[in-house]
Amino acid sequence: MGAVPDVKRKAMLVERPGAMRAIESILKPQSDYAFYDMIVGNHGTGKTTLIRHVGHQLDGILYVNISPNSVSEETFAEEFAKAFHWTPATHFWHGEAADDREILVKVFNEFHNQAKVFKKNKGRSPVLVLDNIDCLAQANPKLLNILQDMAKDAADDGLYITVFVTSEGGAPIQMLGRSARSRLGKVMEIGDMNHDEAIDFLCNKRAVSESVAQDIYSLVGGHVGLLVSAVNELDSGQDFAGVRELLLGDARRVLRKAGMEQGGQFREAGIQIANHIFKHGRISRSDLYRISGSKSQGDQLLSLNIFTNVPRSRWVFFDTKLMEITVRALVENPSDQMMIGTFPEIRK
Ligand SMILES: Nc1ncnc2c1ncn2[C@@H]1O[C@H](COP(=O)(O)OP(=O)(O)O)[C@@H](O)[C@H]1O
Ligand SMILES: [Mg+2]
Repeated sequence: MGAVPDVKRKAMLVERPGAMRAIESILKPQSDYAFYDMIVGNHGTGKTTLIRHVGHQLDGILYVNISPNSVSEETFAEEFAKAFHWTPATHFWHGEAADDREILVKVFNEFHNQAKVFKKNKGRSPVLVLDNIDCLAQANPKLLNILQDMAKDAADDGLYITVFVTSEGGAPIQMLGRSARSRLGKVMEIGDMNHDEAIDFLCNKRAVSESVAQDIYSLVGGHVGLLVSAVNELDSGQDFAGVRELLLGDARRVLRKAGMEQGGQFREAGIQIANHIFKHGRISRSDLYRISGSKSQGDQLLSLNIFTNVPRSRWVFFDTKLMEITVRALVENPSDQMMIGTFPEIRK
């Protein structure tokens, strides 16, 4: 039943044994496990790669990636049906059902039947992985509620286990605020790689020199996605100074899009929150809400990839080391128009 697409270019992957073991324990639950789980981590920390790498080797895992194109009930149902290789006649999708909700219910019913057969044959429940559910929190929160309720019922009935994969912010906040959280089991966090893992990746997998590897680490920390971007730029002929400008430019674009430029929506609040984090190392979610003006404004700010909230905790930090460096430059030169070349030297 199902199959998880494998990771490409396996030889380039850095080993993350601790994270891999934790993911394996989530994807291979005990036969009587009756909860649904969550895997949480910022964008680009390597969640999808780890899940595919581990999940590809296991039987009974269904993997559904939710993209901005599959956030309606119908498009989600289509992706879901594909994941367990169910291909109903075309008129099923176009015309037969009364509405999108009915299509979704029918696909789930078919999945329930297959899950029962799997369980009877293998003596354990299949696992349904829903990746990138943060797309739903923003574009179709009702569907996320439905999926969470389905996950709870399936856990209650011992039918299948659902694993929700998400960035920190909107989706976990929405899900943890509902009564269906009573059936939430594990919440696993995928964070940055540590220093040694990052240097090992740069030097041994991507043939970067030790000194450039240290420079890269002091710019982006152990964020896998940014390490990969940095190395790809080096490979295309940039020197470290060029890579640094490119990455800082990307981060500045995020700030600009988020309304932290002069006169932007979150300029004042963003700088005040940043100053608090510089001073105290972190800020509580309630202080962030207060400074932002309201909870909804604060949640919006939390979804803009500048700050990040650790789930089930009240603390907020910078999203990445790179973002911290970029915001520090903005705070230290408030009149600056986020021009290139105004960044302080990176601290080692
Ligand atoms: N263990 C790893 N070793 C090497 N590269 C990795 C590893 N994990 C992720 N990457 C790379 O980092 C980038 C982001 O990873 P991804 O799994 O998409 O993150 P997420 O799902 O958390 O957003 C991708 O380019 C991916 O190939
Ligand atoms: Mg992903």
